[in-house]
Amino acid sequence: MALIINGSAVAPPADPRVSLLDHLRETLHLTGTKKGCNQGACGACTVLVDGERILSCLALAVQYDGRQVTTIEGLADGDALHPVQAAFIEHDGFQCGYCTPGQICSAIGMAAEARRGVPSHVSADLAADVTLTNDEIRERMSGNLCRCGAHNGIIDAIRDSLVTEAAA
Ligand code: FES
Ligand code: FES
Repeated sequence: MALIINGSAVAPPADPRVSLLDHLRETLHLTGTKKGCNQGACGACTVLVDGERILSCLALAVQYDGRQVTTIEGLADGDALHPVQAAFIEHDGFQCGYCTPGQICSAIGMAAEARRGVPSHVSADLAADVTLTNDEIRERMSGNLCRCGAHNGIIDAIRDSLVTEAAA
């Protein structure tokens, strides 16, 4: 039994009650993933599992046996930042940075959902292809809170990196 974290196989926790978030932070010392509310309300703990965004505070690590977990530490390619990471710097998409890893992982998962045609609460036509307008991005990112109020920069960073990438 093993979890695949950022491409490396790691042992699951001995205690099956340990959350994926605590396993990442406390056992593996991957502290890029943040603990905010620890109850599914803030999005700070968002990671990607097989490309889908999940809240790691609400997930038991043992549930993810054999799955590919990607954290903020796994996004860059060596010294080259992921385009969304670079866009957050370019657009001042953070202040304290506490929410940022979750915002970035969530944005990548969100864009994949949009490419699959998953509608949101503000989608006018549930069967149409998704266009990531600012309203769509705001709605789809509404589970990721930023107490510093950097949301305008966050939206700009996501639009410039992921929407441009999707249209290419
Ligand atoms: Fe997981 Fe807040 S720490 S949603
Ligand atoms: Fe501080 Fe978002 S940058 S909480």
